[in-house]
Amino acid sequence: MGMLGMVLVVGCTDPEHDADVVEPDAAVVGTGDTVFTTGQDPTNPFFQVLGTNDRTCASCHDVASGWSVTPAALQARFDASSGLDPVFRTVDGATSPAADDTSLAARRTAYALLLSRGVFRIGLPVPDGADFAVSAIDDPYGYASVDELSLYRRPLPSTNLRFARTLMWDGREPTLASQATDATLGHAQAMRAPAEAIVGPIVAFESSLYTAQAVDAEAGDLADGATGGPAALATQPATVPRGFTLYGTWATSDNARRRAIAHGEQLFNGRRFQIRGAIGLPDQEGTCATCHDAPNVGAHTTPLFVNLGIADAARRQPTVPLYTVTQLADGRTTRTTDPGLALTTGKFADVGRFKVPTLRGLAMRPPYFHDGSAAALDDVVRLYDRRFGIRLSPPDQRDLVAFLQAL
Ligand code: HEC
Ligand code: HEC
Repeated sequence: MGMLGMVLVVGCTDPEHDADVVEPDAAVVGTGDTVFTTGQDPTNPFFQVLGTNDRTCASCHDVASGWSVTPAALQARFDASSGLDPVFRTVDGATSPAADDTSLAARRTAYALLLSRGVFRIGLPVPDGADFAVSAIDDPYGYASVDELSLYRRPLPSTNLRFARTLMWDGREPTLASQATDATLGHAQAMRAPAEAIVGPIVAFESSLYTAQAVDAEAGDLADGATGGPAALATQPATVPRGFTLYGTWATSDNARRRAIAHGEQLFNGRRFQIRGAIGLPDQEGTCATCHDAPNVGAHTTPLFVNLGIADAARRQPTVPLYTVTQLADGRTTRTTDPGLALTTGKFADVGRFKVPTLRGLAMRPPYFHDGSAAALDDVVRLYDRRFGIRLSPPDQRDLVAFLQAL
């Protein structure tokens, strides 16, 4: 009980005003774990160098970071290797492929966004036949063009993939096989597409993984009299009930942190608010579980892409490009740091829409949202509270965060 309060101090930065994301100490919250349903296989091609730049899939999808990467882990790798670890490659690790990375000081600048926010540069064109044009580009790195927009995005976790109804933040990959092929050609800079004998085992391996928070520093074993942790997730049926039903039994626990987690789960499923102007979802009264409805997983049960305003011009940091997007039919414009789904569908109406992601193992992999703009889960909850006028009391905000930290 001596740790009471420690979990409350994480994440004190306001992402809207602070360029450098300060990361909470994940170990304070507890630890996560992965179940390998077909065994841990360190020889799987997922862990092998498949291209020309020494990277593996695990360079950016690390078991210790919930199969994503965190700024803290990246900073440690940078310091240990003087910025030469394979994750630091200009192709997509740097702010621009043209960035100078020939000295240590130059590498600190080139990889500044990766080190502070854990984001990689995804280069994507405006698709042929789009009903919009990118009419202006304000890129601090002077690289982005209509043929290749620079979009800085967090690695989605390569785990719990049984529950993914669409792949990538913008839904652009139809299958895990196409995803693995494109990741090898892009991130790993392979000269040719990997053979089926490589792709098949990668897909089988990543599809066998289940990851969740396992131990909470104060609540203890998350599967003790409850159904948190990765083992229960591995057998989770993708059927009703909707929302989360992990911690109901803890509502009357003697342990205050367990009660907080149980109450946070109730808030997530049951606290109603007006969901308005979230393009992609009709206006309605709902809860967190309206969008994050996949039982005990938090993705959406169908492919759902929603605009929460994360990429809006008003939230833009000067360290990322800003794009002016013009609808061809009527000249309407909008400005965004990332058109999201619109680059997959070619539709102006889809600008700023991103997929509803899974919510397990969150504490292992800050920062949050596609652009890493929320340093900690407190910032996520505060953003929703403002965005939808939920008016959560400070104790309710803390309990909701405690629940998210126990996923
Ligand atoms: C240089 C870093 C990097 C490397 C290397 C990398 N990835 Fe990723 N991965 C990312 C990023 C960033 C995203 C999200 C990009 C987006 O949505 O536009 C992602 C997304 C994914 C997703 C989508 C998950 C979901 O829920 O939609 C899967 C699966 C994945 N990667 C698997 C792999 C595999 C397999 C490999 C190796 C062949 C690999 N990645 C190599 C950075 C990387
Ligand atoms: C209108 C649909 C919608 C509602 C309601 C909603 N979310 Fe989300 N959530 C999303 C989408 C879409 C994203 C990804 C947005 C992005 O990155 O641009 C997201 C992202 C998140 C993330 C970050 C996940 C990650 O890996 O970065 C967390 C945590 C989260 N939501 C928790 C909540 C909580 C808590 C509530 C209730 C207060 C809530 N959500 C309500 C759609 C929704």
